[in-house]
Amino acid sequence: MATTIAFFDATTSEKTSFERYFTGPKYKLHIFDKTIAEVPLYEYKDADVVSVFTASNVDAPTIASLPRLKFIAVRATGTNNIDTKACQKHQVAISNVPAYGQTTVAEYTILLALMMARKMPAVMGSVESGQIDYRRLTGFTLQGKTLGIVGTGKIGMSVASIAKAMGMHIVAYDPYPNEAMEDKIGFSYVSLVDLFKGADIVTLHAPLMPATKYIINKKSLGLMKDSAILINTSRGELVKTIDLIEALKNKLIAGAALDVIEGERTLDVDTETDLLLGDKKTSFEIAELDVLTKMNNVIISPHNAFNSHEALHIIRKTTAQNIHGFLSGNSQNLIKL
Ligand code: NAI
Repeated sequence: MATTIAFFDATTSEKTSFERYFTGPKYKLHIFDKTIAEVPLYEYKDADVVSVFTASNVDAPTIASLPRLKFIAVRATGTNNIDTKACQKHQVAISNVPAYGQTTVAEYTILLALMMARKMPAVMGSVESGQIDYRRLTGFTLQGKTLGIVGTGKIGMSVASIAKAMGMHIVAYDPYPNEAMEDKIGFSYVSLVDLFKGADIVTLHAPLMPATKYIINKKSLGLMKDSAILINTSRGELVKTIDLIEALKNKLIAGAALDVIEGERTLDVDTETDLLLGDKKTSFEIAELDVLTKMNNVIISPHNAFNSHEALHIIRKTTAQNIHGFLSGNSQNLIKL
């Protein structure tokens, strides 16, 4: 019997790649451009393998309703959108793409830092409005400023290397410090409190897990300099958005650049309709997003840091290898359940 693989969140070019990676009668493919929640179950109920990007939540009821499901290939590093307990219960293995984007995401993080430092939202806004007054647009250089990196894994280290080359002073926090890299790149591990107190720019590169959820909250924002910039290219739930809004309104920090945000799926909805139709949580998230997008010291991008041609190529190739490996008994990149 053919192995059925159901891909969700697939772009047109991903579709072409996956059709090339899985050819012949051994495979039956369902390729959807929608999230798993948007596709009726009967269209993929025969799936042996499911592959999703970050937009799809593979929850316990979905896992329980796929009788043949054995493997979930996540086309990202973070796997927080998969219900691991349900996978354990139903003996479903999960793989990720552990290393595709450290340079891509690190460069994007530095881009956001530069944009915030040089007030790019206001600079671009002034050109659009035809009122160019450089006195309102004065920024600061990154050279000589202190960058606080929360999480020194692949992306955090890559950010550290680039920032070091730009003349920044770097402090970092990680519960599992990498002292060899600390010496090699030339930064210092400090406590989280000292990082928040001392950094001109705080950038988040820790995965979403119970210990990191809302690591940026009223208390941590209160420790930061009033000139500090917060950058989040990790996962939205690391930041308690309502506390960030309050801190920005009260000028406890100077600005924020968020590639990821709680409830980021609401970025592509019709705001007013969804406010009327959505549940309380969705309405709250939409309202938060609406407030933030109106602030000229905030940049929001739609979970886009990974999005380079180079990274996409590695994601597709590694996902195909993960699936081929699992099906042939040579699994790779499995997540510990
Ligand atoms: P990684 O696994 O290489 O590094 C994560 C680091 O965080 C590790 O050094 C770990 O020890 C550290 N960490 C664990 N708990 C921590 C805590 N409580 N406080 C501080 N640090 C802690 O992961 P990588 O590849 O560097 O990616 C980091 C995150 O970036 C991913 O988990 C993912 O959520 C996000 N990401 C976002 C993308 C985007 O497009 N915006 C693209 C790729 C990844």
